[in-house]
Amino acid sequence: MENSIFLDTIKGIKHKRPPVWFMRQAGRILPSYMKLKEKYGFNEIMTNPNLAAEITLLPVKELGVDAAILFTDILVIPDALGMKLTFSDKGPVFENPIKNIENPFKHLKVDTARLEHIYETIDEIIKTKPSNIPLIGFCGAPLTILCYIVQGISMNNNFPDAVNMLYNHRKTAEKLIDAITELSIDYALKQVEHGIDVFQIFETHAGLIPSELYFELIMPAVKKITSAVRDKGINVIFFPKGIGTGITDIDNEITDFISIDWQMSISTARKIVGNDIGLQGNLDPRILTAKQDVISAACEKYIDFGSSETKWIFNLGHGLLPNTPYENVKYVVNWIKSADWKRN
Ligand code: CP3
Repeated sequence: MENSIFLDTIKGIKHKRPPVWFMRQAGRILPSYMKLKEKYGFNEIMTNPNLAAEITLLPVKELGVDAAILFTDILVIPDALGMKLTFSDKGPVFENPIKNIENPFKHLKVDTARLEHIYETIDEIIKTKPSNIPLIGFCGAPLTILCYIVQGISMNNNFPDAVNMLYNHRKTAEKLIDAITELSIDYALKQVEHGIDVFQIFETHAGLIPSELYFELIMPAVKKITSAVRDKGINVIFFPKGIGTGITDIDNEITDFISIDWQMSISTARKIVGNDIGLQGNLDPRILTAKQDVISAACEKYIDFGSSETKWIFNLGHGLLPNTPYENVKYVVNWIKSADWKRN
């Protein structure tokens, strides 16, 4: 790939500024996406490779971000494991969450054909994307997927049934984690085969459990997924939201980059992880509802860090939130691109 500031940064090649993209940049804030949503349901969009490819590239064209992220969802893995996912008006619903099932493995029936449309979407994106824009593939990490499988989609992000399973039904939890991991590896490797440039693994609910338990029970599974992808020459970004000082124990054996949440300052993160790991993050997405002078002051705070830190990708500390004003998101992209980062 030619002239990608994003891929160069991942490889440690210095540019005048950090690259910029946003988690959830396609599906929440773009007026052009909202317009498409008036016409099509989420499921319809996601399973139509032409539409999904078009939406993947909207933020590149309209916001000017430096990378595209595949338009699909982490919940396709529970779906392909037999949970039967549907996207209703109220959001995603599983027909068969494990907690309602006496034998937790009765409905676990892997059907990889349910992921095929995603590979077709990747083919379409590769055909149509600008040559300097890399495509980020992704999957959910095992704990987050386990949470949704066991609890269903809950507005209660404490996932009590999933945590109960970890403490009181460890063997069942381990078997589920193995099944999730095995399918995630197959899914990730097919994304690589179809041409993604970078892979991000979203552990949105890492903060649900003590980090010691996370390292004991989940990290070996994360490492299996990241190693499979890295063995193919594709770099990995890991987003363990809420893991706190647990990042101290994440090393280059696990991932190339860590995406830092908004709870910790990015310079603290740099102090506690090794220098061989890159960082991504970590502006609080809620600040994007504020006035632009508040937003620019928050961006300004990254200048010191970014002047000396070249293995850093600008992003948020979590995904863009619904109802974030589009103009403010665009303002941040322009700010990051035009600031003097004092790099020589
Ligand atoms: O820019 C993008 O939106 C890219 C595609 C993308 C989606 N989901 C589309 C989506 C990505 C990268 C995701 C990741 C995802 N999905 C995560 C990890 C990132 C994070 O924000 O923590 C998680 C935890 C999910 C699970 C999920 N998907 C939930 C809980 C929901 C319902 C609430 C919500 O976030 O909207 C979804 C649905 C979903 N995924 C939508 C979209 C565009 C909304 C669907 C709709 O319009 O009905």
